[in-house]
Amino acid sequence: MASKITVRAPSSTANLGPGFDVFGLAVDAFFDEVTLTKKKSGISIVTEDDIPTNPDNNTAGLVIKNMIKKFKIKDGIEIKIKKGVPAGFGMGSSAASAAATVIAFDKMYELKLDENMLVEFAGSGEKASAGSIHYDNVAASVLGGFVIVRTNPLNVIKIEPPMNLRMCIAVPKLKVPEKKTKVSRGVLPKKVRLIDSITNLSNAAAIVAGFMKKDPKLIGDSIKDVIIEPARQHMIPGFAKVKENALKAGAFGVTISGAGPSVIAFSKSSADLKKISLAMSKGFASANTKCQTVICKPSKGALVIKK
Ligand code: HSE
Repeated sequence: MASKITVRAPSSTANLGPGFDVFGLAVDAFFDEVTLTKKKSGISIVTEDDIPTNPDNNTAGLVIKNMIKKFKIKDGIEIKIKKGVPAGFGMGSSAASAAATVIAFDKMYELKLDENMLVEFAGSGEKASAGSIHYDNVAASVLGGFVIVRTNPLNVIKIEPPMNLRMCIAVPKLKVPEKKTKVSRGVLPKKVRLIDSITNLSNAAAIVAGFMKKDPKLIGDSIKDVIIEPARQHMIPGFAKVKENALKAGAFGVTISGAGPSVIAFSKSSADLKKISLAMSKGFASANTKCQTVICKPSKGALVIKK
């Protein structure tokens, strides 16, 4: 058994519009790295990034605590975390750390857990930052590709995305509230109109069909959400303009990435992706907000990079 192991896990975008808490897509925009090292006793966190180092308040720390307890492991573990995924911007930052940690632990102790178990443990760590458990980001970050999350019992379905699917992500330079996901879930309606749920359901079904048929246009065209996006968009300065600009520049569909404030446009490799990115930057600029843009593609899941 290895006594030290490093795993890299990708960023992810959750929801894809109408698939709130159900859809996730791993994207190669950013990566987190987690190195686990066995030690005599205790759990410690080592990092140069601005994240909690108390294991009870840290995604990776919670994952390790839960797994050590479940599998009755006697060792102590040092968790070294190198963040690449910006925290609090709707890019699955805490999920990436949780995913990398679960895969590292599974490999270190040769547990050979099945996919649903891996996702379940990664989700248990997410509680540290989101306040509630939802598996869309962790499932994508653990397994890679496009995922559909069913709960009670947890059952994750993975679909290989089309090779030519591309995304332009605009990450606005904003000060995000602490516990941002909790805040942005607080603005959501408790009840929805039947007509709106039908619209979202039909679009969500079409997104799945788009992934099955490997059709980026069908995926993008179906990224239309009449429930969550209208409730959250006021939290993103310039959102309407960013979306309008990206669509005018040729994007197939545009929505909030996860709980925001990043905005994601869906397109294909042969499109003018730089033009779409620039159009999104201009949209944010119209609201006096700077942003970082990244052109990316679907990613594989968490992988061991050093042993
Ligand atoms: N589905 C979640 C949300 C993702 O939109 O609140 C956030 O991590």
